[in-house]
Amino acid sequence: MYEESHIQDAAPPPASHKRTSLPFCHVQLSRPKFVTLILIFLLTICLIVFTCSQSFLFSTQILSVETNIATVKPSTLKTPNNINKSIQWLKSQNLNREVPHYPHTSRRLPQCIIVGVRKAGTRALLQFLDVHPDVIVAGAEIHFFDVEENYSLGIDWYRKRMPFSFPGQVTMEKSPAYFVGESVPERIHKMNESIKLLLIVREPVERTISDYTQIMLKKKSKNKPFPKFSDMVIDPASNDINRHYPGLRRSIYHHYMERWLQYFNLSQIHIVDGDQFRTDPFVEITKVETFLNLAPRIQPSHFYFNKSKGFYCIKNANIQCLAESKGRQHPEVPTRVLKRLRDFFRPHNEKFFRLIGRRFNWG
Ligand code: A3P
Repeated sequence: MYEESHIQDAAPPPASHKRTSLPFCHVQLSRPKFVTLILIFLLTICLIVFTCSQSFLFSTQILSVETNIATVKPSTLKTPNNINKSIQWLKSQNLNREVPHYPHTSRRLPQCIIVGVRKAGTRALLQFLDVHPDVIVAGAEIHFFDVEENYSLGIDWYRKRMPFSFPGQVTMEKSPAYFVGESVPERIHKMNESIKLLLIVREPVERTISDYTQIMLKKKSKNKPFPKFSDMVIDPASNDINRHYPGLRRSIYHHYMERWLQYFNLSQIHIVDGDQFRTDPFVEITKVETFLNLAPRIQPSHFYFNKSKGFYCIKNANIQCLAESKGRQHPEVPTRVLKRLRDFFRPHNEKFFRLIGRRFNWG
């Protein structure tokens, strides 16, 4: 009996129960367990190799983007050292190359557009909103809806000008010329009738002077003559306000606002007080966050008042101020010209206030 049971015990185990030693240690495992372990080991190696190669690829792409940045400098920020900003800026330059982007991101049509007003602080508004983690902005002005050549390229062309975004992020662009473009409200409405629009306004006389300053300095840099501000806004021959001067016309806000309100509800257009925004951006930014249903993530600590520039800048790892072209010295304007302009704009401002159901302290 004893012999028999001994023989049974000594019978060779089935192949699946054969034991194998692991290398470098004396642990014995059954063959299926050993094979599973080897498979897990190989899978882990593959995963590590894949992750490393992806991250290497991403780094080299970023390096090439950075190299491009060194040769072409963006004009919106003084120190574009933030890689995300740099990538976005390059994308917006319409370079014919794909840029690195995170998985699950795609280019989306904007859910919000800053439509104007030119010289009221549109760039600062866009830049400051970009601080919000759920906002992603197109760095350059796209001019899709106001430039026929661009519009004829179709909505997909426009979408491809947008930065990559995660689902749930608000994509935003700003093209201040949209506000005065005749076909723009209708075209934006056709793209998305429930879009949210931002309009930043500034006291019209100051805005007109700023508009003039920008064009005058551009002409000056090309050694082209340009009339004095007073001669531009008041016709020297008739001594009347020159209503044909585009810089002045652009400050008659109600002309354009009427058209926007033919296509959009007032509740879809949030108006930012550009004068308040300049002196205290946080208050206005908070209102925009509420309008866009964004969590209140932008804090006063995100801004830094640069005394020498006289403007707020963004406080990141370092300070990012807007380019020198923003916040330029205005020419001296005689008091009598200022008064005439204020008198001219007063009734127009009243019409604008009635349209938007809100007043500004514009004197
Ligand atoms: P000025 O150059 O006349 O001072 P836009 O970006 O629409 O062209 O507007 C330019 C205006 O933005 C500037 O006009 C400036 O007054 C205003 N602005 C508001 N906040 C600013 C900021 N933080 N830095 C620079 N400019 C700012």
